[in-house]
Amino acid sequence: MTSEYSAGRDFISGAKINYFHHALKHLTSYAIHPSINVLSNVCRIADLGTQTAIWPTDVVETISTGTKFHVDGFDISDKFFPPSAWLPENVKLYIHDIYQPFPEEFKGQFEVVHLRLFLTLSRQQVVQILQNALELLKPGGCIQWMEHDKTDMTIMEVTANSSSTANQAFNELQLNPFPNYNARWVLDIGSTMTSVGLEVLAEDRIPTKPWLLPQMNELHLLALMDIPQGLSSAVDEFCEKHLQGLQEEYQNGVATIDGFICVVGRKP
Ligand SMILES: C[S@@+](CC[C@H](N)C(=O)[O-])C[C@H]1O[C@@H](n2cnc3c(N)ncnc32)[C@H](O)[C@@H]1O
Repeated sequence: MTSEYSAGRDFISGAKINYFHHALKHLTSYAIHPSINVLSNVCRIADLGTQTAIWPTDVVETISTGTKFHVDGFDISDKFFPPSAWLPENVKLYIHDIYQPFPEEFKGQFEVVHLRLFLTLSRQQVVQILQNALELLKPGGCIQWMEHDKTDMTIMEVTANSSSTANQAFNELQLNPFPNYNARWVLDIGSTMTSVGLEVLAEDRIPTKPWLLPQMNELHLLALMDIPQGLSSAVDEFCEKHLQGLQEEYQNGVATIDGFICVVGRKP
């Protein structure tokens, strides 16, 4: 996670992540990946980097199996935490830096650890996070990690020969929005899970479906609005030259198909 993310604008950042959650659920039809068998009557889950706690509240409120879910959400900041009085009684939120070991009371307590949308991380950061996540899991427990995959973006035009200049510039920007950004890190999550001793159960690459493009277009625009001026010269330059054009191209049926990746690893 880069500092660029945490510099986002409060309510736009919150709205963006909540909207992302609903779009991803719409795209995948799951909050918990189908390779994860929840066999017990009670399932305890840790959500690392929970932000607005949209994923935990969805899990405990909408999954209708015989299982009772309890989700503990952890984040380095409580800036986006809803007031505890608004949370379901089986969601609890804590401030914790996930690069640091978790307190003893949480170790070995969880069937599932969930991570999602960390923007960009180095392999070393992924190793550190996975090692701390492994300590939270019971034997046989699973880590589910979903990320935006910007490594294979293609442009889709409803009408042939429509102008796509702004979409092309946006795709280039997505590969390099900040110094030291590496879009390809998401492709290494699976091999890093293997290197820390997890058995990879699933590594799904999920392209955006055409019916989701209007929402993805709005999310792209929200993400650009969420980056304050002066934080990234590449983003500032893009907005000055292409933001208006990008909106017009979206209205003309020109959009980018980008994707998501979901990796599931099981602790032996
Ligand atoms: C883009 S948000 C994703 C929110 C959530 N995972 C979701 O998908 O709905 C990333 C979150 O990770 C949190 N985060 C970043 N670094 C962290 C750290 N070292 N420890 C705990 N949380 C961290 C940020 O504060 C932010 O809330």
